[in-house]
Amino acid sequence: MCGIIGYAGELQAPDVIIDGLKKLEYRGYDSAGLSVFNNGEIKTIKSIGRIINLEELKNKNQDELISNVGIGHTRWATHGKPSEKNAHPHFTDKVSIVHNGIIENYLKLKKCLEEKNYVFETETDSEIVAKLLDYYYQGDPIQAISKVISRLEGAFALAIMFKDQPQKIYGARKECPLIVALGENQNFIASDINAVLEYTNKYYNIDYQEIIEISKDSVEILDIDGNKIKKQINIANWNVAAAQKCGYEHFMLKEINEQPQAINSTISPRIIDFLPDFNYDNIDSDYLKKFNKIFIVACGTAMYAGMVGKDLIEKIARVPVEVDVASEFRYRDPILTKQDLLIVISQSGETADTLAALRLAKSKQIETLAIVNVVGSSIAREADKVITTFAGPEIAVASTKAYIVQVAVMYLLSIKLALVNQKLDKNQAREYIKILMQMPEAISDVIGLSDNIKNIATKYQNTKDMFFLGRGLDFATCLEGSLKLKEISYICCQPYQAGELKHGTISLITDNIPVVCVATQTNLFDKMISNIKEVKARGAKTIFLTTPELETKIEKEIIDDIILLPCIKDIFMPFVIVPVFQLMAYHMGIIKDCDVDKPRNLAKSVTVE
Ligand code: F6R
Repeated sequence: MCGIIGYAGELQAPDVIIDGLKKLEYRGYDSAGLSVFNNGEIKTIKSIGRIINLEELKNKNQDELISNVGIGHTRWATHGKPSEKNAHPHFTDKVSIVHNGIIENYLKLKKCLEEKNYVFETETDSEIVAKLLDYYYQGDPIQAISKVISRLEGAFALAIMFKDQPQKIYGARKECPLIVALGENQNFIASDINAVLEYTNKYYNIDYQEIIEISKDSVEILDIDGNKIKKQINIANWNVAAAQKCGYEHFMLKEINEQPQAINSTISPRIIDFLPDFNYDNIDSDYLKKFNKIFIVACGTAMYAGMVGKDLIEKIARVPVEVDVASEFRYRDPILTKQDLLIVISQSGETADTLAALRLAKSKQIETLAIVNVVGSSIAREADKVITTFAGPEIAVASTKAYIVQVAVMYLLSIKLALVNQKLDKNQAREYIKILMQMPEAISDVIGLSDNIKNIATKYQNTKDMFFLGRGLDFATCLEGSLKLKEISYICCQPYQAGELKHGTISLITDNIPVVCVATQTNLFDKMISNIKEVKARGAKTIFLTTPELETKIEKEIIDDIILLPCIKDIFMPFVIVPVFQLMAYHMGIIKDCDVDKPRNLAKSVTVE
C-alpha cells in the first residue's frame, strides 16, 4: 500500500530510486514520482501508471535530475484518484515528502493551515504533511518532524527532504512499515528491505516516535526530543535472486513452483523424530496445553489458510476454533477469555486490520501467536509468540506460496495440539507427519498438470461467472480458489458449500455456467455427487477435482472436465487442490491478457483499514 524509498550515496539517486520503486511496485502501482536535490533545488517528477512511465520521464529529464540524494514513491490511491497532481512527492518551497498510510485528521489540519494562508492543490491527505512541515520548519528538521508527527492521527511512513539540507533524507513512521538500510558509502530508507537488497541486507526497523536522518555516510535514529537511539541491526536472509523472476515469465508462476521448497523450509526445523516440535519458536507443550479455545484472525488468503486450520484443529485436536476476518473481529467486541489463544496469520506482517486485531487481544491480556512470513514486521514484533514461515519474498500481489506454508503450519500445529491434548498418540502423530513430509512431492506432481489445467482455462475463457462447490475441507479450498480466480482473471466466482446452494443461489445456475466441483472427501463424497447432479440438471458444465479412486464412482455423464489429483489421505487434500486453483487462475489471467503479477486495484501490503 504505497512504496517508499530514500537514497543518499554516491550513485545516481534517480536510478537507484527507480530501481527500488520497481521492487516496491507490488505495494501500489497507480502513479509514481521522485524528488532529488539538484543545483541547490529540489527537482520533482511524477507520472500516472507504472514505474516504467516514471523511468521514461526521468530519461527525458536526465540533465536536471543529476543527483546523489533523493526520495521516491509508488502510489496506491486512497484519497484522490490516480493523477499526476495527486501523485507523490508533495512539496513546498522548503520541503518535499512521500507518504504511505492515511492521515485521519487531515481535514482538521487542512482547515488550520488554510487559515494561515496555505493553499492546497491536491485531493490527497498526504499534502497536509508537506504543508505542516513547511509551517513548522525553522532550520531544525528534527524539531519540525517531531512537531508534525505529534499532530498526525492515523497511519504514516514518511520520507522527507528539506531544501536547505541537501545531503540528507529524513523519515518517520506510525503503523506503516519503514526501515533504514545500511550500505557502504550509501544509506537508504525504504518500505521494505526488498527494495534495496541489491545493495545491502543490513537494516534497522524503525518504531513510532523515532526520527531517522541519513546521509551518504551517516545514519542517526533519534527520539522525538532529538536524543540518539541505539538499535540492533537486522540481517535479511533473503537474497537478491529470491526477489527476481529467475527465468520465469511471471513472479506468480515462479512462486507457485517454489511451493514444494517453501514447505520443506517451513516444516523441517519444526519436525523432530517425525513429531511436530515448536521449540524452534520457543513454544513448548505446556504453552499449547493451556488453551480451551482458539481464535484465528486474518485477512483474505491468510484468513482462508485459517479456515483450513479450523477444520484441522477441530478434527484432529478437538479444540474449538473461531475464524474471523480481521476487519470484523476488531470492531465486533469479541468474547475473549484468558484461556483463549488468538492466532493471527499474515504474509506481510503489516496488514492494518490484522495488526489491530492482535493489539485488541493483547489489550485484553489474551495470549497471541502470529504466523508471519516477514521477519521483523510489525505483527512479528508485537505478538507474544511467532512462527515464521519460510516462503521467502512473495512478490506477486496474489498470495500463493505464502498461503501454502501457512497451511503447512496449521497441520503441524493441529497435530501438536492433538498430542498435547491426548487426542493422538505419538505413533498416530508420526503417521500424519510422514504424510505432511510427502506434500512437497505431491505438489510437484500437481504442478506437472499445468498443461491440462491450461486447456480447461482456455475452454472456459469467455465465461463471466463461475462457481466453486465443495463440502468440509474442500469448501475451505474453494474459498481460496475462487479468490485467486477473481483477483487474477476478473471472473466473478462464487464459492459455495455444495449443500447450501439449493437455498437460493442455485437460481444463478444456467446453461453452460462452469462449476468447479471439488470432491475429495470420502465421507462427504455421496452428498457432494448429489449436489453436483443438481447443478448438472440445470445445464452447468462441471470441472471435477477428485482422485482416481473416487473417479471410478462418478457417472461419466455428469463430468465435463476433470483434474485427477494424487491419492493422499483426505485431510491433506488442500495441498494438492489449491495449486490447481492457482494454476487455473494464472493461465486464465494470461489467456485474458491480465497483469497476473499486479492485478488491477490491488496492493500487496494492505497497511490501511
Ligand atoms: C490474495 C492476497 C490477500 C492477502 C491479504 C492479507 O491473494 O494476497 O488476500 O492474503 O491482503 O495479507 P497478509 O497475509 O500480508 O496479511
